[in-house]
Amino acid sequence: MGDIAAVYGSPRRQGNTAALVKRAVEGARDAGAEVDEIILRDFRISPCLEIYGCKEAGECVIKDDFQEIRDRILACRGLIVATPIFFYTVSAHLKLFMDRCQSLWVKKYWIEGTPYNQWTPVRRGLVIAAGATRGKKLFDGTLLTMKYFFDVLDMELWDSLLVRGVDFAGDVLHRPEAMETAYERGSTLAQSFREEV
Ligand SMILES: Cc1cc2nc3c(=O)[nH]c(=O)nc-3n(C[C@H](O)[C@H](O)[C@H](O)COP(=O)(O)O)c2cc1C
Repeated sequence: MGDIAAVYGSPRRQGNTAALVKRAVEGARDAGAEVDEIILRDFRISPCLEIYGCKEAGECVIKDDFQEIRDRILACRGLIVATPIFFYTVSAHLKLFMDRCQSLWVKKYWIEGTPYNQWTPVRRGLVIAAGATRGKKLFDGTLLTMKYFFDVLDMELWDSLLVRGVDFAGDVLHRPEAMETAYERGSTLAQSFREEV
């Protein structure tokens, strides 16, 4: 297995979550990890069409860039996923990818018959999210969605970095504590694998 995959879920290339995940990637690399960066907006991914072609072999039958990204993520022990908050949940780019992972859910629970809540995590996930407002529940929807998305990847929600009050691209660059935390979380995630070797 490789080290870490880092998923950029925002449509904005120079946006707030892109800046945060870039910093987390620097932290991970400085700690010695190999990081595979995946910018979702550069790929063509259809929505899940709910035809359940995956019932045969746990393989999504829609052929596009989904398979490549899925395989790159499954090849890693750690995943950093960054998303802006759009209407209290993840970006559309990220959600399209997530929904296609229903094929992994079908494989795990229907085909392989894994009992619910009785599997051992083999991966660790770090969620980075940013939103404009400061509401108490701003990240509740996203964290719940992530928890169940990570489940299909045999991954625990290891940690999160949630930043409120950033809206225009680059706002987060004026929040040095958030940028520093991103670096530190990336570094700690990488070190957690080193310690196990
Ligand atoms: C379609 C859309 C929906 C949004 N919905 C919310 C929202 O529900 N709550 C919020 O606080 N900010 C919302 N925002 C603001 C973004 O979360 C905010 O600008 C964030 O910093 C963008 O991150 P990015 O630069 O990484 O894309 C929304 C922005 C867009 C474009």
